[in-house]
Amino acid sequence: MKSTVLTFVALAASANLCAAMEIIPIETDATALVYTVGDDGRLYQSYFGERLDNAAEYANLPKGKEAYLTHGMEDYFEPALHINRTATPNSSTLLLYKNHEVIDRDGYKETVITLSDPEYADVVKLHLAAFGPENVFKSWTEITNNEKQPIELEKYASSMLHLTAPGYILTQYSGEWANEANQLSQELHYGKKVVDTKLGARADMHVSPFFQLSLGDQATETEGDVLVGTLGWTGNFRYVFEVDNLGDLRVISGINPYFSSYPLAKGETFVTPEFIFTLSDKGTGAASRNLHDWARRHQVKDGEGNRMTLLNNWEATYFDFDEDKLIKLIGEAKELGVDMFLLDDGWFANKYPRHSDTQGLGDWDETADKLPNGIGRLTEEAKKQGVKFGLWIEPEMVNPKSELYENHKDWVITLPNREEYYFRNQLVLDMSNPKVQDYVFGVVDNLMTKYPDIAYFKWDCNSPITNIYSSYEGKNQEKLYVDYVRGLYKVLDRIKAKYPDLPMMLCSGGGGRTDYEGLKYFTEMWPSDNTDPIERLFIQYGYSQVFPAKVQCAHVTTWNKKAPIKFRTNVAMMGKLGFDLNLHDLSADDLAFCKQSIKEYNRLKPVILDGDQYRLVSPYEGNHTSTMFVDKEARNAVVFAFDVHPRYNEKLNNVKLQGLNPKADYTVREINRADCSADNNPKTYSGQYLMTVGLPLFTNGDLSSRIYELNRK
Ligand code: GLA
Repeated sequence: MKSTVLTFVALAASANLCAAMEIIPIETDATALVYTVGDDGRLYQSYFGERLDNAAEYANLPKGKEAYLTHGMEDYFEPALHINRTATPNSSTLLLYKNHEVIDRDGYKETVITLSDPEYADVVKLHLAAFGPENVFKSWTEITNNEKQPIELEKYASSMLHLTAPGYILTQYSGEWANEANQLSQELHYGKKVVDTKLGARADMHVSPFFQLSLGDQATETEGDVLVGTLGWTGNFRYVFEVDNLGDLRVISGINPYFSSYPLAKGETFVTPEFIFTLSDKGTGAASRNLHDWARRHQVKDGEGNRMTLLNNWEATYFDFDEDKLIKLIGEAKELGVDMFLLDDGWFANKYPRHSDTQGLGDWDETADKLPNGIGRLTEEAKKQGVKFGLWIEPEMVNPKSELYENHKDWVITLPNREEYYFRNQLVLDMSNPKVQDYVFGVVDNLMTKYPDIAYFKWDCNSPITNIYSSYEGKNQEKLYVDYVRGLYKVLDRIKAKYPDLPMMLCSGGGGRTDYEGLKYFTEMWPSDNTDPIERLFIQYGYSQVFPAKVQCAHVTTWNKKAPIKFRTNVAMMGKLGFDLNLHDLSADDLAFCKQSIKEYNRLKPVILDGDQYRLVSPYEGNHTSTMFVDKEARNAVVFAFDVHPRYNEKLNNVKLQGLNPKADYTVREINRADCSADNNPKTYSGQYLMTVGLPLFTNGDLSSRIYELNRK
């Protein structure tokens, strides 16, 4: 689409006198972020809050704080930008406003504010994109070295935001492998709170790259002012929350500068990743829905497209399979009624066959004695059965026991003069090296060329970067963390360009990679290896704060068999549904139930995956939890209710529904019942009744669950 550009420039020649009180409002339909050029020529953030009807009133705002604070000047707190110059030991930067332009893009407006230093030739451009109806902003920074000598970027934030509120409560989502995205809140007082990661490739293993910040009291699902932000960067990130001497809060978001100062030669430009954020005055639920809408429309690969149900063999077989077993499983995928069979780890390598996670990574040829007729025999079988075929790969990694390692040790990130350290018996390939990028692209490209019927990849990444050293980067070792991610994006760009319709799952030993830049290339992600349905209630709840159900893969497995199949399946139906179990381990009734669930899911997918999500009762509240999805016209809705471990004779309260039309009438039917029977006694209520009085969704039954379908009359 053609873009229209409007440019505004400084009014007078002298930067100091020039654009006195130039006001730059950046607005979505609901929120305004307003910058003002002071009479000293610097850029200030004057406002971030509800959009005012009369934009002329922004002129009444106090000037505020300097927008993008730099090292070495008058401010006493953490800077957004710190440049070291090789030509001079003076590492201060002063940024003065030069001009700004507003570009009309497809579905959003982008404002670019250009700043420059009167002493040095560095140019800083602040980019701010505003997505009107979704009420989402994106902010990123471009830094260009126009000096004669190289400069080094010590700190280079994507965004700096200034907030003023009576108090600040930060909610973060952290944990570990198989225990991802635990919700935790804390008040912020004078000083800094840093949330960051130094894990490199599997960057989000300990903490998810997003936060909620309540302004004033703790925001609830439906009430309170809250800023929700997330960095689109598949690598080390850092958020700094600093309350200053005046009780104001500064939020600096970007790549983690830890061991990452980045040199810029003359004429070079550094573009930071995007920080994505939304401000809600109606609590966290509305903020999540803003981000979900934005993600599906503007960010996620094929965000508005369909998603396939699948049968995965990982937990059914682990590494122990052969062609016959897989052919049987492909038949089971057909029998179950899912769209695809996904072959997981263990199908490759010959010199060091991948019989366990100790060897073989890097050698992407089919193991001859397991798969004598190759992947081709499997795609052929899948075609015969009318299901699609998907394949697991982990192309950025290598086992020391592999031919790849033997032939290309210089492609591996490892310290040359120390004993090697292995995480899950493996090492990370050096994605900064273009030869490695070609090789990694080749893993996908060769498979697709040889087997064009492969319809899906699960792309895994099981190791963080440890023992950091790249033989490619030479003297510039501090570039590696950044160049690794850029190298990865170069490969993913090539894959997306050549195979634009190829769906892929972003996996990293569970939720080790869960960011929105990654999701430009991936249609979905794997939130956790933990598929215990009780744990999943919490994990999926955590990720739903920022990511729509559509990108959260959720599989029914044998983790926690104490939970009935209905409970396990109902939990997975709140995401992108899949199965990872042996059908012959299921009783006939359980199998019939799973088949019914898939049919119901396919019918309800448009509501669950593309509708509005309302977290009615949080799993953190106690023994019960409930989530509902409503389509965009408020015609059809699906309500999920779970009783985990209720107390004896516990008092049960009605749950008030949300998102319905109060004036319309809805029939309410229980669906997906354990005995596969139909609810022949649907009831009718007004939307007002359902949202004001609510429904008795919960029971005293241990590990029990129900799904209700609502249809407008
Ligand atoms: C990781 C993934 C799992 C599975 C294994 C295979 O742990 O998260 O789903 O694919 O690797 O080794």
